[in-house]
Amino acid sequence: MKRKGELIMGIGHRIKTVQNPDKRVELLKKFAGRELKKTPYLDFALAVESETLKKKNNLILNVDGAVAVIFLDILKQGRFSDEEVRTIIDAGALNGLFALSRSIGMIGHILDQKRMNEGLYRHPWDDILYL
Ligand SMILES: CC(C)(COP(=O)(O)OP(=O)(O)OC[C@H]1O[C@@H](n2cnc3c(N)ncnc32)[C@H](O)[C@@H]1OP(=O)(O)O)[C@@H](O)C(=O)NCCC(=O)NCCS
Repeated sequence: MKRKGELIMGIGHRIKTVQNPDKRVELLKKFAGRELKKTPYLDFALAVESETLKKKNNLILNVDGAVAVIFLDILKQGRFSDEEVRTIIDAGALNGLFALSRSIGMIGHILDQKRMNEGLYRHPWDDILYL
């Protein structure tokens, strides 16, 4: 990946490090350990993380990476064939989970802004409307 000049998706966080871990990732790992018999995808991702951590302490398995591999482990443990898993992933199920979790965050921000009487933040249109 380094030779290709590409980042490994699901690895790296701007603030969180191995010494200051992301609580969400901790909870996801606990969930997987508790609920799944085998976690081949998570194990692989953690093996990748152990390599990237040799370079820098923020090259951890991030929350998006953890969601992705644990979701695959859940599908793998279910009754789906490999072909069906491929269809689910190609259809964008992971993008759906990403959008769902971001929506919860956005609702949280909106409720906070209203609670604190801050008025709702409106991002400048010219920055988001590419016409
Ligand atoms: C968080 C992030 C911006 C890292 O920022 P940073 O700490 O400023 O890292 P730098 O850009 O200074 O890179 C430091 C080194 O780590 C490497 N590196 C950083 N992120 C990496 C990754 N995801 N995979 C592999 N190597 C990575 C860089 O190539 C660089 O290596 P070098 O010193 O040999 O050139 C980056 O890891 C990232 O974008 N990760 C998220 C990728 C992802 O999961 N995206 C999808 C979810 S939204």
